[in-house]
Amino acid sequence: MVDLTSVLTYAADGVYALAIILFIVALHRMSNPATARSGILWAGAGMLVAIIVTGFNPDVLANGSALGTDLLLMLAALAIGGAIAYYAAIKVQMTAMPQMVAVYNGMGGGAAAAIAAVTMISGTSGQAYEALAITGGLIGAVSFAGSIIAFAKLQELINSKAVTFPAQNAVNMLVLAGAVVSGALALADPGVFAHVAGLSVIGPLGLFFILGLAFGFMMAIPIGGADMPVVISLFNAFTGMAVGLDGFATSNYAMIVAGVLVGAAGSILTLLMAKAMNRSISNVLFSAFGAKEETGTQVKGSLKPIEAADVAVMLAYASKVVVAPGYGMAVAQAQQKVKEMMDVLEQKGVQVKFAIHPVAGRMPGHMNVLLAEAGVPYDHLYDLEDINSEFETTDVAMVIGANDTVNPAAHRQGSPLFGMPILEVERAKNVIVLKRGQGKGFAGVENDLFFRDNTRMFYGDAADSISKLVQELKKL
Ligand code: TAP
Repeated sequence: MVDLTSVLTYAADGVYALAIILFIVALHRMSNPATARSGILWAGAGMLVAIIVTGFNPDVLANGSALGTDLLLMLAALAIGGAIAYYAAIKVQMTAMPQMVAVYNGMGGGAAAAIAAVTMISGTSGQAYEALAITGGLIGAVSFAGSIIAFAKLQELINSKAVTFPAQNAVNMLVLAGAVVSGALALADPGVFAHVAGLSVIGPLGLFFILGLAFGFMMAIPIGGADMPVVISLFNAFTGMAVGLDGFATSNYAMIVAGVLVGAAGSILTLLMAKAMNRSISNVLFSAFGAKEETGTQVKGSLKPIEAADVAVMLAYASKVVVAPGYGMAVAQAQQKVKEMMDVLEQKGVQVKFAIHPVAGRMPGHMNVLLAEAGVPYDHLYDLEDINSEFETTDVAMVIGANDTVNPAAHRQGSPLFGMPILEVERAKNVIVLKRGQGKGFAGVENDLFFRDNTRMFYGDAADSISKLVQELKKL
């Protein structure tokens, strides 16, 4: 007699293995801009397979009615969550993508914490898997609370600046220690509530989650908006670790592998971003960067405006033009116009290259995604290390809505930007800066590049300015 339950369990493990393969292929494809879009589809397919097979899990099917109460609850949750996510994804602006990533990541952390809580409540005390679940629960709760604060800051629902108070790091450590101690107590007695002298009070498990959430909250409030993408990536790594630990606790292979992949990818991305800003992770987390404005900066020179017709002449007679795009190009959604300008210049025999700073814009790969969407070929995009040696031989460096990533203040000790590698556009023969007015960059630091002798300011919204420029170029 064939045991249906064990057949279903083996079949489910087999299908989970397929989901795992899809996740790994997806991540591999995401490592190259040319295949990244299809990587998202592979990952989505892996997730769909994993969700469907979970619905056929014997435990899920067996619970309650013939169809299974758990299955019905899962389907209802999927319908509600899927509808909200679909609506949010089609509505979100490209510039609001970091906060959307934050909120989705937070949901992942929250789900991991919830799985840990259920595992603890329904488990047998003192088992090794409970220790894994409780560790996953802490990391998931921290990621959930921290990501929600990151979302609220980036969406400007709360003050986006770093919030600090005396002995902050010590207080944070005390909260974390409290969470660890109550987690250890919960391993012996996993009660959400406890009964003391006939009264119902919060038990170790309840206290553990309250303190875990509080630590996530405390960890995120001293971090200013400029550092948020790094922290979101760190919380993303946390969510991955929490899911992986839950996977071990519940013997779910797909969760183990998906969690490990997200944890590793998120950790590497966090390190790369911190390196691109020449900061350590501890500096990002504990220095309250941006809480104090830079004072007493003396800028010499004057701002020298230039009109579209003059920029067109300068570009048309150049042999090499290097474009340095930044956040303003994303705000203006100017990428299509930039591509049109590139085509016109190339027809005139001008060599056009794009200098991509790793933290230009507001999320990793922001400029690559926008330029790829507009059809700029990948071989026109150059990393910071490769392009900096080329500015000496560049006739015109065109800064399109970039500021901090081209700010020479990064070479000056005492500046909040000190040490950040920048695109050294100032070394080009001519620099044209496209921006709307006197707005500062994300770090709030004055940029003396704009005042230099070889710099001209081409004011206006980047999309409008480049439209005018293309018209002028076509006349030449
Ligand atoms: P920013 O320094 O943010 O400067 C953007 C500039 O664009 C502003 O000076 C603004 O000046 C201009 N601008 C805004 N809207 C515009 C429009 N419609 N048309 C033309 N110009 C416009 O940009 P960046 O150089 O890309 O630097 C990115 C910053 O974000 C860095 O500080 C970086 O460390 C931080 N950050 C990024 C990341 C990632 S992963 N990308 C992660 C962490 C931190 P006006 O207001 O005068 O127009």
